[in-house]
Amino acid sequence: MQNFIFHNPTKIIFGKNTINAIGKEVKKSAAKKVLLLAGSGSIKNNSVYEQITASLKGSGIEWFELWGVKANPTLEHAQRAISIIKEIGIDAIVAAGGGSVIDEAKAVAAGVFVDDIWDAYLGKISISKALPIFTVLTISATGSEMNPTSVLSNEKAQKKLPLASQLLRPLASIIDPSVQSSLPWEQTVNGGIDILAHIFESYFAGSSQEVTIALNESLMKTVINCIDTLAQDEKNYSARANLAWTATLALNGISAAGIIGDWASHRIEHSISAVHTNIAHGTGLGVVFPAWIKYVYKENIELFQRWAKNIWNANSVEQAISLFQQKLKDWKAPTKLSELGIKYEELDFIASNSLETPTLGVVKLLNQNDVLEILKLAY
Ligand code: NZQ
Ligand code: ZN
Repeated sequence: MQNFIFHNPTKIIFGKNTINAIGKEVKKSAAKKVLLLAGSGSIKNNSVYEQITASLKGSGIEWFELWGVKANPTLEHAQRAISIIKEIGIDAIVAAGGGSVIDEAKAVAAGVFVDDIWDAYLGKISISKALPIFTVLTISATGSEMNPTSVLSNEKAQKKLPLASQLLRPLASIIDPSVQSSLPWEQTVNGGIDILAHIFESYFAGSSQEVTIALNESLMKTVINCIDTLAQDEKNYSARANLAWTATLALNGISAAGIIGDWASHRIEHSISAVHTNIAHGTGLGVVFPAWIKYVYKENIELFQRWAKNIWNANSVEQAISLFQQKLKDWKAPTKLSELGIKYEELDFIASNSLETPTLGVVKLLNQNDVLEILKLAY
């Protein structure tokens, strides 16, 4: 068990009909005017927008709306938001959507206090101030609603990088799982795969952290059961609610307590979606993770065998990987890079683009050639 600090000050307001709390939460922070940040419009089709604006109005909070955050949010759009805030004056940000909107809100919250926020993602500067962030979550996947991380794409540079700072933790996040019934099926699945991937990143790097490992096994089983249930009945509230809370627990520090996570698969996926911005994060992970497991499992064989037995009731890791991929197919998720419109000739660039540092990962230290081999396995 590695030493760790667990300090997560984000307030979570969870359950049906909770979005109407947003106005009061913002008011408590003394903010008077907020930026309401949103994506391509899904919140207008599922009553989330009406609920947020009614609540802000009821608490006497003014708001300015900025739409158009892309799935895989961009530096360019964040810079637009930053300029607007500098021009009109804003006290806080309300992010209404999924990880993309929340991650961009984090970039913007810190970006108004520095010359160029991309420098923070490049590690050239550290941030020392950020506007308060509130979120109304509409898709369960990233855990961004209760974590300190933002992932942003610089389309010109073809880079997608993370930034983490305690200053970027949302003050309060509202999770009403019932609004997730409007998700297209593939987005529900993308979310499920991303949640599993967050658990894997810690779990597979584990050794003696029994409490964290056992908890993670329960979280994995819950994700699989919930997605299976939703495949039959997309409106099942209990499955939506359990999946939503699992997503938050999967990346709010709890699933990683005492473990230094691997994160190579995430880096590789970010390199894919940096180049192919139309590929959803969860879709990319579903393709990369089985290949990564195949490539590295002998490095921590006991734990991978435990995973095979406890999660898949399989006798070998190879069999468990097949069952995992079959599950992805049952959920109608792609399992090969070739299915995502990626050309074989691109693999070299994707491999080199995934390494900001000479090596990657914890379970097995990967160099560029290792990453290329994993990509070939995934093709
Ligand atoms: O554009 P909008 O209207 O928001 O529509 C979204 C988007 O098209 C739609 N959607 C969301 N809720 C909906 C809905 N459609 C109907 N009904 C609803 N209730 O779903 C699409 C995907 O949304 P997005 O926010 O992109 O999904 P997700 O939450 O998976 O976020 C993905 C981004 O987060 C990053 C990913 O790399 C990716 O850029 N990540 C962030 C992390 C973090 N901050 O800790 C960690 C993750 O590993 C990940 O890297
Ligand atoms: Zn992820």
